[in-house]
Amino acid sequence: METIIVNNPEEGAEKAFQLIKTAIQANEVKTLGLATGSTPLKLYDKMAHAALDVSEITTVNLDEYVGLAKDDPNSYHYYMNENLFSKVHFKETHLPNGMAENLEEECANYEALLQANPVDIQILGIGTNGHIGFNEPGTSFSSKTDVVELAAATREANKRFFEKEEDVPTHAISMGIQSIMAAKKIILLAFGAEKAEAIKQTVEGAVNVDCPASVLQQHPNAIIITDKDAASLLTGVSSR
Ligand code: GLP
Repeated sequence: METIIVNNPEEGAEKAFQLIKTAIQANEVKTLGLATGSTPLKLYDKMAHAALDVSEITTVNLDEYVGLAKDDPNSYHYYMNENLFSKVHFKETHLPNGMAENLEEECANYEALLQANPVDIQILGIGTNGHIGFNEPGTSFSSKTDVVELAAATREANKRFFEKEEDVPTHAISMGIQSIMAAKKIILLAFGAEKAEAIKQTVEGAVNVDCPASVLQQHPNAIIITDKDAASLLTGVSSR
């Protein structure tokens, strides 16, 4: 695992953008794994303003809330359309369907989609509790796409996007940790002091289900891009 400490989120987004752009221009990306949340927004803005040809690239997203329709402003479908897909035209874009009648079947189908479209680069954010996708602390490292229950800390952190706290869904469909780890390359972005503890556990803590992102220490090609605030509790890494 490589850790890159940048001065601010703008520099972090630029670093991630350059890594992705270089790989796309070298024809190394057939499938791009995407994340939601506030963290990748600057990166998506850069992608939206770059004249990159992504017409042969398929995207797969990490997760979607259960019970939110695609046109619900809080759904991840809506977020992706607003922030990227309406501006950048990929070959195909996929997110789990949180409105599926049979959620188990939807998870199995999504996992099959991932098998058919192995992810070349996966973009990740991180929860304040160390979650990746919606894989909360305690999730098995061998988990595949599944219906997951959101931790109280996650609902608390994400309630800022909703009108009322009770509107925050209790469940989501999320790629599993094993599904995420199958990506050839992973780029995790973390910005802000509220991510500092999670980044410390991820980079310097024990590899343990208590911090799901710590599994990235076992990935052969994972890069953590963190700003100074999120890196503030790290002791042993150097900036580059
Ligand atoms: C959600 C998403 C995660 C994301 C996290 C952090 O819970 N499921 O994929 O990494 O939020 O969000 P933010 O970037 O807004 O801090």
